[in-house]
Parts: sequence; structure tokens; C-alpha cells
Amino acid sequence: MTSTPTRKRVLSGMRPTGKLHLGNYVGALQNWVRMQDEYQCFFEVADWHALTTDYADPSRVKENSMDVVLDWLAAGLDPKKSVIFIQSHVPAHAELHLLFSMITPLGWLERVPTYKEQRENIKDKDLGTYGFLGYPLLQAADILIYRADCVPVGEDQVAHVELTREVARRFNGFYGTANPVLPEPRSLLTPAAKLPGTDGRKMSKSYGNTILLTDPEAVVRQKLKTMVTDPARVRRSDPGNPDVCPVGDLHKLFSSKETMAKVYEGCRSAGIGCIECKSWAADGLVQILNPIRERRQKFEENPRLAWDILEDGSRRASAAAAETMKDVRTAMGMSLELK
Ligand code: TRP
Ligand code: SF4
Repeated sequence: MTSTPTRKRVLSGMRPTGKLHLGNYVGALQNWVRMQDEYQCFFEVADWHALTTDYADPSRVKENSMDVVLDWLAAGLDPKKSVIFIQSHVPAHAELHLLFSMITPLGWLERVPTYKEQRENIKDKDLGTYGFLGYPLLQAADILIYRADCVPVGEDQVAHVELTREVARRFNGFYGTANPVLPEPRSLLTPAAKLPGTDGRKMSKSYGNTILLTDPEAVVRQKLKTMVTDPARVRRSDPGNPDVCPVGDLHKLFSSKETMAKVYEGCRSAGIGCIECKSWAADGLVQILNPIRERRQKFEENPRLAWDILEDGSRRASAAAAETMKDVRTAMGMSLELK
């Protein structure tokens, strides 16, 4: 491992939603790839978290987890720098979650904003389960079992990290010595890049408007062709404004300064057409996506490669988790030794 003990520790995770899209990339993954050089990173596929909503049919969880891992590796997560693993391969998370469940007041969990929201919004599944309520506590165990200093997350997960801090404080308060057993992590808020999907709404699997990291170049170009533009540009002769155009948002993320200048000038003066402008956006995009897709292909051709990485990852994660669990049990007076 290239990391040294003095590096701060990072843990983050994703639910196994299957193949990742550009929104997952700019909203999280790209940032994780960069963090690998500065921090000692742990990245987990939170497959038990998927069960909190998909318990009635878990048949795709494993396949979806592998899809996520392949996209991670393809995008540049590097097992030489980071520990990459699947949550259920490190059962100690479940032990810590159980211990936390003893000390966590129900009200803390009922107050978590995503709990109320999802209970109201998801009507096709019965989320009145013990596991769904406890899901942020499982996340707290994910984080605290590695004694992570920082947790890179989007806005929607900040409340979960806040709960994690409260749980750590309560644990340390009950069982702590001078040194806190579980240090309180902080969230590192990933700046939310504006990434519209092909219909102009936020890119999201549930809207069916995504561009996947695995989409072949021809598909990326085709999706761009159908992308909505500045609604004020009805005719080719109407001037437009890249700042209110979803294609303009893509340019800001993926195009060079020179291309951007051509886009602003050409769009505002009606000097270029949207079709041309979209093909430039596609050029920028495929430059990022082509190498990712090619790397992914290598892993797809040799599934053993990714599996070996995961086995090594769960070994290293388990070793780090075991250290914490030893201290946790000792702090509670329940060590596995005779005395
Ligand atoms: N709950 C996170 C999500 O839905 C995924 C996740 C699980 C996570 N465990 C984590 C994120 C630990 C950060 C840290 O996106
Ligand atoms: Fe959008 Fe480009 Fe068309 Fe302007 S020229 S409206 S930025 S697609």
C-alpha cells in the first residue's frame, strides 16, 4: 500500500444501483479518484443497504454490486491506493450495528429527513420495517468501524454523517476512557455540479434520462442529439443562451476553454446550430468516457481480476474493522479474552 498511517482516513460508499451514469461520476466517483492520493481511502458497495428497500427481491443485488465495482475500477479507483470492498463481505459491520442499536434512541432515527421523505414517497414497497428505520445506523457502523476522519458525501447524506457523530459521542460517553474509542468523523461535502440528463432534469436512473459510463460512443452521440436545449432557440436563426441550456451545462463540465468560447459566441449570435454545438459536447464527453469504457472491458473479459481485488479488499477492510471491534468490545467490558 502506498498510504502511510499519518494520512487521514476516508470512507465512502454507494448503494449497488447497477451500472453508473455520468451523474454518479461527477457527483462522487471523480472526486473519490482524486482523493486516493491524499487520503487512506476505503470504498464500499453497500449491498446490505440495498436490502433495506429491495428485501422482497434481492436477486439482482450481487450483479448490481459487481457492476458498480467494475465502473469504479474503470473510472480509476485503484486497489493499490484504496481498499475496495463489498459491505456484506465484512460481517463485523453487522456486529457494530447491533451494538449501536442498543444505545440509539428511536427518536434519533425517526427524525432523519430521508426516513420521513422515503416513507412518504415510496409507496410500492412496505418500508415499515426495522431494517429500513435502522439504515442510517448501519451507515454509522460502516463509517465508525474504520474510524474514518472524513466522509465524502453529497448534500442528501449529510444528516446521516451528523447522526454518525451523535452515535459516536453517545458510545464514547457510555463506554469511553480518556481516549474516545470512536472518533467523530466529518463530512466532506462534494460540490454539487449541475449535471442535467437528456431531458434537462437532474440526471437520475428513475427519470430514464441518463448517459451511462458504459454507453458506446455511438449511443452517447445519439443521446446528445435528443437532448433538450435552450427553449428560447426555436428556430436556427433565434439566438440562445448556453447558461440556460442543458447542453451548455455539459460543455461547462467537459469542454475546453476554446470550445466554450465558440459555444458562447456562436449560440448568442445564432452563428452555430444546436446540432453542431451538441456534436462538440459529445466530443468532450467521449474523450472522458472512451478510456473508462475500454478499461471496464478489460475487467469484463476477466471477471477473476475484479473478484481478486474484492477479496483482497475485504481482507484489508476486515483487518481494520477487527482492530476497532476489539477496542469496542473491551470498552464495553465484553472482550473475547478470559480476562
Ligand atoms: N447511504 C449512502 C447512499 O445512499 C451509501 C452509503 C452506505 C454510504 N454507507 C456509507 C455513504 C458510508 C457514505 C459512508 O448514497
Ligand atoms: Fe444550447 Fe448549444 Fe443550442 Fe446554444 S447552441 S441552445 S448552448 S445546444
